Amino acid sequence: MRVFLGITGASGAPYAKGILDRLLGAGAEIGLCASSAGIEVLATELYRDATLPRDEVLARFLGDGSDSVTVYGADDWKSPYASGSAKVDAYVVCPCSMSTVGMLASGAMSNLIHRAASVALKERRTLVLVPRETPLSSIHLRGLATLNEAGAVILFAAPGFYHGAESVQDLVDFVVARCLDQLGIDTDLVRRWGEGSSDLRPEVPRRAS
Ligand SMILES: Cc1cc2nc3c(=O)[nH]c(=O)nc-3n(C[C@H](O)[C@H](O)[C@H](O)COP(=O)(O)O)c2cc1C
Repeated sequence: MRVFLGITGASGAPYAKGILDRLLGAGAEIGLCASSAGIEVLATELYRDATLPRDEVLARFLGDGSDSVTVYGADDWKSPYASGSAKVDAYVVCPCSMSTVGMLASGAMSNLIHRAASVALKERRTLVLVPRETPLSSIHLRGLATLNEAGAVILFAAPGFYHGAESVQDLVDFVVARCLDQLGIDTDLVRRWGEGSSDLRPEVPRRAS
């Protein structure tokens, strides 16, 4: 499976790391492109140092998986992901900033992430966007609706709590698992609703006595 992973400057770097690791585990061939704001967010949220150089951030982010991942610069128009003629199974932008949502919804393409996502839409291929912002303005909402109408899956970085989450990692895994579902990749990250033991059922709220 060949997947494009775009990383932009919204909060949510742990989701991107989880998706990358699971794609690697599934044996996917991955093309990766991070905007400069995306690099800053990875550095801030994963490595607690916003000043880390780009190469260092990417080396840490890829870890042992660097052989299966090709990293492209944001202006690399020669990348296969810049053209619909390249065979690509799915495209994910995670995290997806509202700036990138606005660009995509307008049809503008000023970096490889915008271009790859636009290619996915015009070729009617799977495109999963994982935005994070709150609250949302009507501009954001219209942009997201436009992209949804054009065929993108808007998979908001909004973890559920009903599966018995006990840690931040459980919440991250929830979003990662929902994203991988969209790509048709099975994971055991999160038990599915209705499967397994009954402790997944929400508790009946206790009444104050
Ligand atoms: C640490 C950090 C966190 C940010 N969080 C968000 C966010 O959650 N959502 C968002 O839309 N923008 C966020 N931004 C702002 C975007 O990074 C900024 O708008 C940038 O221009 C996006 O460009 P890009 O889409 O090319 O990555 C954040 C920026 C930084 C440095």
